[in-house]
Amino acid sequence: MQILEVSIYFFSIFHLSSSSGTCSKCIQRGEVYCPMFDRCGILPFCLRWIDKLLNCPDTRNISVQYDEQFTRNKMMPLAAAAYSDDPLPCMRKVLPNIRLVNTYSVSCSYETDSLIHITTSWVAYLLDRINWIDYNPPPIFHSDCFAYIGIDDVEKVIVMGFRGTEGLFQLLEQMLQYHRGRKQFFDNGSIYEYFYNAFNLLWTGGFEKGTRDVLGNSTDGYELWLTGLSLGGALASVTSSYIAKLNLFSPSRTKLITFGQPRVSDYDHAAWHDSTFPYSFRIINGRDPVPHLPPKIGPLALFHHGTEVWYPTEMWPLSNYKVCKEADGDYCSNTIMLYNIMDHVYYFEVDVGEWGKLGCK
Ligand SMILES: *[C@@H]1O[C@H](CO)[C@@H](O)[C@H](O)[C@H]1NC(C)=O
Ligand SMILES: *[C@@H]1O[C@H](CO)[C@@H](O)[C@H](O)[C@H]1NC(C)=O
Ligand SMILES: *[C@@H]1O[C@H](CO)[C@@H](O)[C@H](O)[C@H]1NC(C)=O
Repeated sequence: MQILEVSIYFFSIFHLSSSSGTCSKCIQRGEVYCPMFDRCGILPFCLRWIDKLLNCPDTRNISVQYDEQFTRNKMMPLAAAAYSDDPLPCMRKVLPNIRLVNTYSVSCSYETDSLIHITTSWVAYLLDRINWIDYNPPPIFHSDCFAYIGIDDVEKVIVMGFRGTEGLFQLLEQMLQYHRGRKQFFDNGSIYEYFYNAFNLLWTGGFEKGTRDVLGNSTDGYELWLTGLSLGGALASVTSSYIAKLNLFSPSRTKLITFGQPRVSDYDHAAWHDSTFPYSFRIINGRDPVPHLPPKIGPLALFHHGTEVWYPTEMWPLSNYKVCKEADGDYCSNTIMLYNIMDHVYYFEVDVGEWGKLGCK
């Protein structure tokens, strides 16, 4: 009984003070915040500090709830749909009345294919890091980016699904190799060059026209859903940013859910994203390594926008998950040290790409 009272006591203290915004006040004063004691400053026995506003639990928009059923039963199949050149069967499983507006396919990324090239580029990259040589990696091979747009006039939903490169090791290598490039995102930070380029090739390769055609029609009362896995998740995120910034659709009616999304932009852009989109979730399966790339450190420090939803062990219907209160802190999936590439392939215990290719049967 006593234990219960004590924990209720602590819970209410935590609850009251965290809703009063202690963390953001600390950071605005130029101090760090200790979540363990809910106090500002470097305190003895405090194991972890928060030094960025986006990691403050009180800066999260708590009016939007994570909907696990929606994510599992609707957004995951819609992400899988992008893995088939005919996405309609997967789309129809989720929204029986949806019609396909179009699909878009472009050569969009830089890939290296030979072991010799990968090795030399890594050596050059390392020499560059210690300022021995100046290394600007050349674009070499192309892979495909694919996206679709669908519209359901009964449910009043517009869906955009994205597929990125399928070679995981190439993706990892590219993400490290291009670590220095960035592209300005208007006045709000910058986007990692590799993802910006992929987005831009898709956008100029027909996707912009498709987007303007669909969103140019009357969309009163419609929602816009964007989704994708891996690089597809990065493309969904960057696309949502441009659609909002170009005023093509209201961010308050936009829902972004990505799976195993890598970091796409820097802190300033992440701040813009979080203050623009109330409904934005990044789903992370256990030990998936890709959300931890490109790293938060280095010449171009990248930072995740919110909101991370982390499934620490499994993704079955009753598996536990955590809606994380920090955008990209030493918290949730960032506490993982050992990664498992299979956790990037399977989401909700389904091999998303393979399942999508088979029409989600
Ligand atoms: C936009 O509306 C017109 C007229 O109702 C229709 O013919 C057209 O198919 C619509 N475009 C899209 C992309 O839905
Ligand atoms: C985005 O940029 C504008 C103009 O520089 C600035 O006023 C605004 O605070 C920025 N938004 C965020 C969320 O950083
Ligand atoms: C949080 O999201 C809700 C719902 O879209 C929105 O009305 C509200 O303005 C947001 N609050 C903040 C602080 O951004």
